[in-house]
Amino acid sequence: MKSLIVYYSYSGITRRLAEDIALITDAELLELKPQEPYSFSYNTAVKEVRAQIEKGVCPALMQFDINVADFETVFIGSPNWLKTFAPPVLSFLRATDLSGKTVIPFCTHGGGGFGNMIEEYKKECGASRVMPGLAVKGTYTFSEVQKMAGVNGVGRCEYF
Ligand SMILES: Cc1cc2nc3c(=O)[nH]c(=O)nc-3n(C[C@H](O)[C@H](O)[C@H](O)COP(=O)(O)O)c2cc1C
Repeated sequence: MKSLIVYYSYSGITRRLAEDIALITDAELLELKPQEPYSFSYNTAVKEVRAQIEKGVCPALMQFDINVADFETVFIGSPNWLKTFAPPVLSFLRATDLSGKTVIPFCTHGGGGFGNMIEEYKKECGASRVMPGLAVKGTYTFSEVQKMAGVNGVGRCEYF
């Protein structure tokens, strides 16, 4: 059975990681898009994001036509934003029943790794099996991801 890769990306780095994981695992991709995108200005976006995270806002998402219930394993990816996942990911988690599923978090970051994300995922996905996942800096290479995934050209590792 195919896995699902759900992700949000602001400037494209997490999108690239999601696409790399999709290539390695032959999974389906689902990009989360807020109905109101964050500002193109980085500094303004940081202010918008800070306000949303502080208030626990779940921004409205664009509709998507993938049925998450059809998948047993769901990768969830986000940039590290102020040590946690981006608000669109919170919107997805609050709106979607992931109970009984394996959740594999992944993130890209500027040096802070997952930050508090894994604890947050465990809190939001209490009835799922949350795996350790994959956190990489924006400068990562495809072969690094392959190595971290334990891919040796023959098969899949425990995660993927
Ligand atoms: C609003 C905002 C907050 C961020 N906060 C953090 C942080 O707390 N720790 C960190 O390591 N990187 C932080 N970053 C850097 C991003 O995690 C990093 O650039 C990421 O790879 C961007 O992914 P994207 O291109 O998919 O949006 C932040 C970036 C933005 C825009």
